[in-house]
Amino acid sequence: MLLVRSRSEVGLWSEHTRKAGRRIGLVPTMGSLHAGHTSLIDVARRSVDRIALSIFVNPLQFGPAEDYESYPRDLERDLDVAAAAGVDLVFAPPDVEMYPNGEPGVNVVPVGGVDRLCGRSRPGHFTGVLTVVAKLFGIVTPDVAVFGQKDYQQLVLIRRMATDLNFPVDVESGPIVREADGLAMSSRNRHLSATDRKRALRLSATLRSCAQLFAGGHRDPQDFVRELHRAGGAGVSVEYGEVVHPESLAPVDRVEEGAVCAVAAFVGDTRLIDNHVLGTDPGF
Ligand code: PAJ
Repeated sequence: MLLVRSRSEVGLWSEHTRKAGRRIGLVPTMGSLHAGHTSLIDVARRSVDRIALSIFVNPLQFGPAEDYESYPRDLERDLDVAAAAGVDLVFAPPDVEMYPNGEPGVNVVPVGGVDRLCGRSRPGHFTGVLTVVAKLFGIVTPDVAVFGQKDYQQLVLIRRMATDLNFPVDVESGPIVREADGLAMSSRNRHLSATDRKRALRLSATLRSCAQLFAGGHRDPQDFVRELHRAGGAGVSVEYGEVVHPESLAPVDRVEEGAVCAVAAFVGDTRLIDNHVLGTDPGF
């Protein structure tokens, strides 16, 4: 496995790889790798020959009061995880390599779908995400890029960017990987105290109840919204609990198969998100 720090080295690798007739997959991450990340490597491997994984804690997508400084970073461990998962190249650029002139002079700003869910409380977040992902697409020039359904709104906006801006890349996705007790894997879970770790289970529990409501024939969104807000309680403060259309992300009037139940909550100081696509196997 190669570890490269500069854009030019990645460019050379991609050029050689493509000349040799190999298809390239990209899995963008912010590191602190877990089984959710490695599952995306497995998704990529189905359709490409070589896999690049990027590790970059992108300052542009963190708000001033957010956890950029305390975001977990452990490159040595991440390299072991990536090598064991069969990654061919890790691109771990320093900030100056991604943003040589400080803040970029051009950003990718989403227009629709950004005033919903996480976009409401995190102004500028998805501009930061789309800008860095567009840059990674330009640097790595992958045939396929894989993102997790865990960050559902991010996935929708990245797909839209690739379509609307005609990026020559197939955007694929992988399902949410969970701990045995249902908690969606997240780099931020390691910030949870033992008590908060237990409380965090309220998010997946409420999504499981939503799956049961749907299976039981409920179709009124209010039933689901009420259930999602039940995640709140001692030490858990719900930011949103909504049932939205899978593409427009607008709240639905009637709950149909494919609608997405999405929840965000602070568990102690840690903000967690989770979701479930109704009609799919909850598996948790
Ligand atoms: P990060 O939070 O590190 O996540 C990297 C990728 O892993 C994303 O596509 C995310 O949806 C996916 N992922 C995270 N937890 C998962 C889980 N439990 N199951 C399945 N997939 C999971 O998302 C980002 O980084 C950044 O915003 C990034 C896209 C890299 C741009 O900076």
